[in-house]
Amino acid sequence: MKAIATALAVCTSFLAASVVLAQSQKSEKPPDTVAPKYDPAIYSELQKAPEKARNRTNPLQNDPEAVAAGAILFEQHCAECHGSSAQGGKKAPSLHAAEVQCATPGAIFWILTNGVVRKGMPVWSKLPEPQRWQLVRYIKSLGGPVPAVESPAPKP
Ligand code: HEC
Repeated sequence: MKAIATALAVCTSFLAASVVLAQSQKSEKPPDTVAPKYDPAIYSELQKAPEKARNRTNPLQNDPEAVAAGAILFEQHCAECHGSSAQGGKKAPSLHAAEVQCATPGAIFWILTNGVVRKGMPVWSKLPEPQRWQLVRYIKSLGGPVPAVESPAPKP
């Protein structure tokens, strides 16, 4: 329960920060001086996950090894497009974006299973399900206050 509350708080501040960012960007002129900014529409695919898929919980949610295992898989399969720390690259958007961080684990799992093939995101159904859930844990670890490799420590 506490974990959920924390996640919600993180997401809320994330979204608030991106709104502020969007507003401050509006008042500034040349968009070509900022780092590649991806259209939020890119992430709209996550919204299309059917409710049942979205509500699936990650069976590895409490597995302390899952984030590190996911990081290795990410390096092997995803970094060439999304960048070595998922910051975004020439071929694919950042996964640190609020749209991804606030999506449910089930929605991210659904994207990995189905891909967004027509837009260049491959299908990952060939990876066994536990590996896909490890990737979900890794992706989710990027946005929160918790460092990617450590298991969550309670706040003082
Ligand atoms: C060949 C390049 C490529 C590889 C490899 C790749 N992706 Fe992607 N990915 C993309 C592109 C392009 C998009 C944007 C798709 C869109 O416009 O919706 C994307 C989007 C995503 C999204 C956001 C979903 C959305 O709504 O678009 C997630 C999450 C994601 N990728 C995770 C991964 C993971 C995890 C891996 C490794 C297992 C991976 N990707 C490998 C190209 C790639």
